[in-house]
Amino acid sequence: MGQKIKRIGVLTSGGDAPGMNAVTRAIVRKAVAEGVSVVGVRRGYSGLISGDMVELNGRSVDGFITRGGTTLYTARCEDMLTDAGQEKAVATCRHMGIEGLAVIGGDGSFRGALSLARKGLAVVGVPATIDNDIDCTDYSIGFDTACNTAIEAIDKLRDTMQSHERCSVVEIMGREAGHLALHVGVAVGATCILLPERKQDYETAVFEPIRVGRLSGRNHHLIIVAEGYGSAQTVAERVEEATGMGTRVTILGHIQRGGTPNALDRVIGTQMGCHAARLLIAGKKNRLVIKKDGIIKDCDMEEGLTQEKCLEQDLFEAAVTVAT
Ligand code: F6P
Repeated sequence: MGQKIKRIGVLTSGGDAPGMNAVTRAIVRKAVAEGVSVVGVRRGYSGLISGDMVELNGRSVDGFITRGGTTLYTARCEDMLTDAGQEKAVATCRHMGIEGLAVIGGDGSFRGALSLARKGLAVVGVPATIDNDIDCTDYSIGFDTACNTAIEAIDKLRDTMQSHERCSVVEIMGREAGHLALHVGVAVGATCILLPERKQDYETAVFEPIRVGRLSGRNHHLIIVAEGYGSAQTVAERVEEATGMGTRVTILGHIQRGGTPNALDRVIGTQMGCHAARLLIAGKKNRLVIKKDGIIKDCDMEEGLTQEKCLEQDLFEAAVTVAT
């Protein structure tokens, strides 16, 4: 067990995710309850480098549990990729008396955190990304809310596609990873799901299920395309050309990152935030809070980031099986 510390910092970084505020709130309230003061760092690592910070107490985070986005603001910070930027960040922490830092974000944010850890700062990460692409944890905050936001929008699209007997091609966020697109595709009953992890043949993956469906009387189709797969517009054009069906493209875009967090993101966000504060207060270093097999725990941050998260193969196969 490490030494108990007296003052911690908290920041959110990278793409925002619904529930980040719930995590911030839990960290602040847990720390304050343990007699530890908390500094909120604004605009992610940019704020850490420039000293853009605010004192937080239990009242500062009132209402955070319901709020989407991140009230601490977030940013993607180029300076954190440089040694000079990292040195400056560590120096600002020292100057502000910050002995441990909670980083709420995704893979890129944790790589930044590791660079600070190598310079002696105690860091703890809380996974929050709608991409849910961090391998060591079954769940990252924001994923379930984003799934439901996309599902709600696509259910509306289905109504109009059905009325016009069209094929809707919907682009779902996920520049590198298809987890969000896969879950959304299964939940909306997509005819096919195109993901960056699986380069599929158009004929068998897209055209054939549309033709099979039409032969058995289905008059509309939904195709889900993950952002990282390629252009949804191209997919739509090829479908129209090969099947003669009218197509429409919808890019849901950043709407998937917004909105009030749902129950899961509030509850797991609270659990993960409390766990992160507990670790920092106990003087633990370089840990990543995770959810594995239903339990909130932690692992070494560097080890946790070594592998890429694989696609859920059985879920993908189920999606194909039930598509038509
Ligand atoms: O938050 C993750 C993510 O949504 C990716 O799926 C997406 O590619 C990326 O962020 C886009 O973020 P931004 O437009 O804010 O740079």
